[in-house]
Amino acid sequence: MGLTISLIKNLHDHIGQEVTVQGWLYNLRSSGKIAFLIVRDGSGLMQCIVAKNDLGEDVFSVAKNMTQETSLKITGVVKEEPRAVGGYEMLVQNFEVITPAQDYPISHKEHGVDFLMERRHLWIRSPRQMAVLRIRSEVEHALREFFYQNDFVLADAPIITPAACEGTTNLFELDYHGEKAYLSQSGQLYNEANAMALGRIYCFGPTFRAEKSKTRRHLLEFWMIEAEMAYLDMEENMKLQEDMVHYAIGRVLERCPKELAILERDVERLKRIQKPFPRISYTEAVELLKQAGEEFTWGDDFGAPHETIISSHFDAPVFVHRYPTAIKAFYMKPDPENAEVVLGADLLAPEGYGEIIGGGQRIDDLALLEQRVKEHGLPEEAFAWYLDLRRYGSVPHSGFGLGLERTVAWICGLDHIRETIPFPRMLHKMYP
Ligand code: 4AD
Ligand code: MG
Repeated sequence: MGLTISLIKNLHDHIGQEVTVQGWLYNLRSSGKIAFLIVRDGSGLMQCIVAKNDLGEDVFSVAKNMTQETSLKITGVVKEEPRAVGGYEMLVQNFEVITPAQDYPISHKEHGVDFLMERRHLWIRSPRQMAVLRIRSEVEHALREFFYQNDFVLADAPIITPAACEGTTNLFELDYHGEKAYLSQSGQLYNEANAMALGRIYCFGPTFRAEKSKTRRHLLEFWMIEAEMAYLDMEENMKLQEDMVHYAIGRVLERCPKELAILERDVERLKRIQKPFPRISYTEAVELLKQAGEEFTWGDDFGAPHETIISSHFDAPVFVHRYPTAIKAFYMKPDPENAEVVLGADLLAPEGYGEIIGGGQRIDDLALLEQRVKEHGLPEEAFAWYLDLRRYGSVPHSGFGLGLERTVAWICGLDHIRETIPFPRMLHKMYP
């Protein structure tokens, strides 16, 4: 075996050299004297040529009878080959089968999505799925880096919580040694406490919502990156969000061109996105719906089709701000100029991907927050600590939460959110 082990994605550093690649057989075709192997190693695909004349009858016979997903180490000299998948080719000098695969169920023909979802643990080995998961990783990394560069402290929020943050209709309940507890719907309330301690903070973790409808945008377990900033108002909050989203898009365009190409993403649409993002009020958004011939009553919440109509007016993500107080969470600060609406803003992605961020300015007045907790029928004991934050040096503050999977679905141009996470949790679905 060659001494140098290389990832397929780094083959450009080894032109003309002998290297070993460790991976799995993705595809194979052979003629009488030559076998073309496509090997994958998680970082890319590589074409390998096994010639009977070089390796002899026996070795050639082993090579050409290998089954899809057989694990193998393969050694040879790398050369550039623009016509080959990945752009490089290896002339094989030696290979070692690690474990032959049994009949692999996912062949290179088209399979139905139900079939693939049942085999999600294997489906993630296919090039499209690997591309999506690499982009997901890049987005997570970019978001963390953005916060790091902007002096945010990473402060993790608990997963097991005694109370609801985002309403009581979709809570996952659990038994906390005899006490009722819930899986976190959002780290926000804890973020507010952490922001009063550390100034600017974020958390990034799994979030749980017992959604009862099946849609292309809802998971029961999803990942949310949530920031909270002391002394920040609603306008500055939106500015920070657009900087962050713009940064993440730039990073994916720069670092994932191959993945975007595999997904056949129209990257021009991503490149066109400029700052500042447009901002419209809820009331203006309702006007857009009416102009489009929708029957819509001021005060109702937007459904997915409404969000699509609104965002279709813009090339970039659009902030919709100042929603009716009645349809938003208990903690949102009323607009001082009109108490009917709150200083909250959602960010709607272009191309019909819907809301990717929910956020806004929080109530900082103790009396008003106490009143809201009561009005919403929330358990006062569980919120006592949260009210304390308004008792001991309360300040104007704002924050937001970005849904990672919806953002990745948009960046990748996917039809459905289920492909944006290795193992999606959806209604009546938790296998594998
Ligand atoms: O709008 P939401 O409910 O906002 C909050 O939870 C705030 N407490 C966040 C904050 O201010 N710290 O959720 C935020 C985002 C949504 O915009 C959406 O992108 C995503 O989380 N999201 C979901 N993603 C996938 N599946 C679901 N069921 C989702 N529910 C919300
Ligand atoms: Mg929301």
